[in-house]
Amino acid sequence: MKLAVLISGGGSNLQALIDANLGVEISLVISNRKDAGGLAKAAKAGIKTAVVEHGHFDSRESFESALLRELSSVELDYIVLAGFMRVLTPVFITKFSNKILNIHPSLLPKYKGLNTHQRAIDAGDSYAGVSVHLVTNELDGGSIIAQAKVPVLPADTAEQLAARVLVSEHKLYPMVIAWLAEKRLEIRQVADYGSEDKVSDDKQESKVALFLDEQQLPEQGYDATAIL
Ligand code: GRF
Repeated sequence: MKLAVLISGGGSNLQALIDANLGVEISLVISNRKDAGGLAKAAKAGIKTAVVEHGHFDSRESFESALLRELSSVELDYIVLAGFMRVLTPVFITKFSNKILNIHPSLLPKYKGLNTHQRAIDAGDSYAGVSVHLVTNELDGGSIIAQAKVPVLPADTAEQLAARVLVSEHKLYPMVIAWLAEKRLEIRQVADYGSEDKVSDDKQESKVALFLDEQQLPEQGYDATAIL
């Protein structure tokens, strides 16, 4: 199984995937920031890297065309977003339908977007966590594959909670990628006859059903809290 990993920063999730020795090929690491620490991590592991700086393009579309040119240079089964901080357009997403995964530091659907840890603290939540999900046109809204809860401690700062959640991220992402490599996780397209509110084709998102070891996963995905 061949992956491209997209990063924007330190690449600790990329490093976790490398260290997990999953028997998958990370064919390419692309960063939208030339100063991303994850580029050195990739190079150290002998992985081809590319930098496509979003600031050099006058539109999301032209930035994504450059991304697609880099991605077309390798054969890919999945695109793994790992700390990638750019929103992808439906044009890009539909080119890799149900083949793009993301890790998000909250228990989705709670706290989509940014500053997830401070928002959980401000809300007085006793739990925060991490979600691995499919990327769709809705930001942080795709089908959830797996989640893990992480306790929020009374005196937590956002940084302390982020560090605690990151430990779980580094276990959850390799676990999900291993499921794909071992063909244990199945992403099945299901026809969506149910919805009355037919939207125009370019907005019509095909629904997927997720199966782990032939068992359909619930809305919240697999709860990995107990095994991380
Ligand atoms: C992580 O919390 C990840 O969930 C979020 O970006 C942070 C940094 O990721 N998307 P990494 O260390 O660059 O993998």
